[in-house]
Amino acid sequence: MKIFEEIESEVQSYARSFPRIFHKAKGCHLYDEEGNQYLDFLAGAGTLNYGHNHPLLKKALLDYILDDGITHGLDLHTKAKGEFLEAFKHNILAPRELDYVMQFTGPTGTNAIEAAMKLARNVTGRENIITFTNGFHGCSLGALSATGNAHHRGVAGTSLGGISRVPFDGYLGDGIETTEYLDKVLSDSSSGIDHPAAVLVETVQGEGGINAASMDWLKNLEAVCRKHDVLLIVDDIQAGCGRTGTFFSFEPAGISPDIVTLSKSISGYGLPFAIVLFKPELDQWKPGEHNGTFRGNNLAFVTAKHALDTFWKDDQFAKEVRRKGQYIEDRLNAIVEEVGEGNFTVRGRGMMRGINCVTGELANKITKACFKQNLIIETSGADDQVVKFLCPLIISDEELKQGIDIVERAIREVCAKTDEMPEEKSYFDDNYDIAV
Ligand SMILES: Cc1ncc(COP(=O)(O)O)c(C=O)c1O
Repeated sequence: MKIFEEIESEVQSYARSFPRIFHKAKGCHLYDEEGNQYLDFLAGAGTLNYGHNHPLLKKALLDYILDDGITHGLDLHTKAKGEFLEAFKHNILAPRELDYVMQFTGPTGTNAIEAAMKLARNVTGRENIITFTNGFHGCSLGALSATGNAHHRGVAGTSLGGISRVPFDGYLGDGIETTEYLDKVLSDSSSGIDHPAAVLVETVQGEGGINAASMDWLKNLEAVCRKHDVLLIVDDIQAGCGRTGTFFSFEPAGISPDIVTLSKSISGYGLPFAIVLFKPELDQWKPGEHNGTFRGNNLAFVTAKHALDTFWKDDQFAKEVRRKGQYIEDRLNAIVEEVGEGNFTVRGRGMMRGINCVTGELANKITKACFKQNLIIETSGADDQVVKFLCPLIISDEELKQGIDIVERAIREVCAKTDEMPEEKSYFDDNYDIAV
């Protein structure tokens, strides 16, 4: 550990929660230098939807490298890029009847957000962008201005402007439709909120605490955008690529965002890669206006193409995500019914779930207790009060049960209710063999 303490910056974060030297990874597991196995319910914060080193993707990548395929090509047309674009069109856009063009940005989520915000501002000629309480969009300055988290905003070192923040779904409590507030302030020329270029939203706020917007709220949000001639940007960097049970998280709402950002799991292999999708009429960029040496990562094109061809050629994989998501929801609901003295709550959608443990202190104790049982799981939320379940989507039923059992034991231990596990029951055999 000495070298990390000696010269790696204090800015490191996940490494503090899981102080081991990790060496190998496969599927849902990480292995440390001593060969200890850890079940990974963090999965690169949503980057490893298909697990670590998926064999099909690895083979495609190795073949490409051994064949001297292009690794870096700026934004040149390459065979790998062409094949990725074909796969995206064929597996994702066409079946959903979506008409988007694709921009390759620098390979991080935050850079895709920068491009999306720039595009919206330039196309509309307006500066203001509406974002939501507890939203997280990245740490570069433009994206940071759209991010709510005080810890991240606190080090901007400059003003974070051009944003008006409004309450997300549920922020003001049940029964308060916050899109009505947005409609009201946009209808009132003296509300103090300038006519915005766009609304930027996560359908399920990941870092903000696994807050899932309802489908009605998303529909209403789109209606408000249309009414006021405001672009709708969905940040699907964490919730996209199947995490919530459909490729795009907004699909069940039946809405049609003008701009969508994707990163994290789009490469399928944990390789850096980010894209922005937008309606063709918004494509008003001049050549190279949003530049970047690493925009488009050819190795990621290769794995992304194979991930799309493998997992998204039909609805089977998404159905499995929904089935497992239902299992997670039911297990977590059963846990919070028994422990946490009625204060814990379950949140999220699909395989993007969380248990709100009310305080960061409790949630941290729980994730620490999980790590002692070789489960890697993190927290999110303003005070880190939510234990966040982001296991790979390809996880087997047994591994999923194993991971949730560990969390259940950890919660019981921390809440000091009882050391005993409830009687084992097979959810999968009895209840979950039909697609939901
Ligand atoms: C919804 C969302 N947007 C943007 C980002 C920023 O992505 P990156 O960390 O790759 O810059 C994140 C990262 O967690 C995210 O969850």
